[in-house]
Amino acid sequence: EKDTFVFGIETSCDETAAAIIKNGTEIVANVVSSQIESHKRFGGVVPEIASRHHVEQIISVFEETLEQAELTFQHIDAIAVTKGPGLVGALLVGVNAGKAIAFAHGIPLVGVHHIAGHIYANRLVQEMSFPLLSLVVSGGHTELVYMKEHGSFEVIGETRDDAAGEAYDKVARTLNLPYPGGPYIDRLAAEGNDTYALPRIRLEEGSFDFSFSGLKSAVINTVHNAEQRGEEIIPENLAASFQASVVDVLTEKTVRAAKEYGVKQVLLAGGVAANKGLRSSLEHAFSEIDQVELLIPPLSLCTDNAAMIAAAGTVLFEQGKRDGLDMNGHPGLDL
Ligand code: KG4
Ligand code: ZN
Repeated sequence: EKDTFVFGIETSCDETAAAIIKNGTEIVANVVSSQIESHKRFGGVVPEIASRHHVEQIISVFEETLEQAELTFQHIDAIAVTKGPGLVGALLVGVNAGKAIAFAHGIPLVGVHHIAGHIYANRLVQEMSFPLLSLVVSGGHTELVYMKEHGSFEVIGETRDDAAGEAYDKVARTLNLPYPGGPYIDRLAAEGNDTYALPRIRLEEGSFDFSFSGLKSAVINTVHNAEQRGEEIIPENLAASFQASVVDVLTEKTVRAAKEYGVKQVLLAGGVAANKGLRSSLEHAFSEIDQVELLIPPLSLCTDNAAMIAAAGTVLFEQGKRDGLDMNGHPGLDL
């Protein structure tokens, strides 16, 4: 059997990334060029700056990827590119670059949903067994996704307001931490204790949906009330209390959904999957459930990258899915 090489492209937010994956599971090359430093002073991603950086970086990222793999586009069986969701100007840079290469070299083109990519990061670590449940937690998404087979995604729960990562970033800003704040809160939380009695927002009985905006407001109110009374906040403890609230609800709902849907695996996905508190809470919870295997990708595959896009793209490619040269970027694409 001939090997399948898929070239992945990711430009939906603030990472310009390309990768080559062999047979859907093996990383041959993986290059990520981050723009975080350019956005830091604005406290968030500035869409125009993101697009411009992608344009400046994408060719050298492609060249470095081919060099790392010691391959040329002649060896590539498919181009997999993130077509949404994300910032439209940023998406279009990757989509157009993908289309240009597909056209120039006569390579099939496959558009990939960014969240499908995050989920398939797990396949670079271990083979997936179905049915499975994925907890997707990133800067833009918080979803519980049920998969009965490859390429089939059913969203059984999602956030009704802020994404988990968004809540992390906003709380970090309240505590005057740099952007993106998730990793800083994570580090602070490890040095503190859950002393602030913040709410656990569970919504209606039986719901797999999430809500984090009330929790975020509770943190902001705690800080303001302390300021008014002239009291000092203990940032480590506030970070630990916030993280405990997020992690408790995420763990609880994931465990309940895994049991209700009788899944074989639970896959953690998205940038917030890098969170140490969340990792250890899920590891602890699932160590007590023998029938369910918990998969957590390494940190480098949790945040945005193109290896995950190529991994998901390989499955779509093998299922015969193709996109034409009229493919567009879709900022609000559904899974
Ligand atoms: O998946 P990702 O790289 O980009 C999106 O698709 O959104 O996720 C970025 C998000 C940011 O909100 C960032 O603060 C959060 O992931 N994040 C973390 C950690 N590392 C990254 N949140 C909590 N703890 C972390 N260790
Ligand atoms: Zn992402």
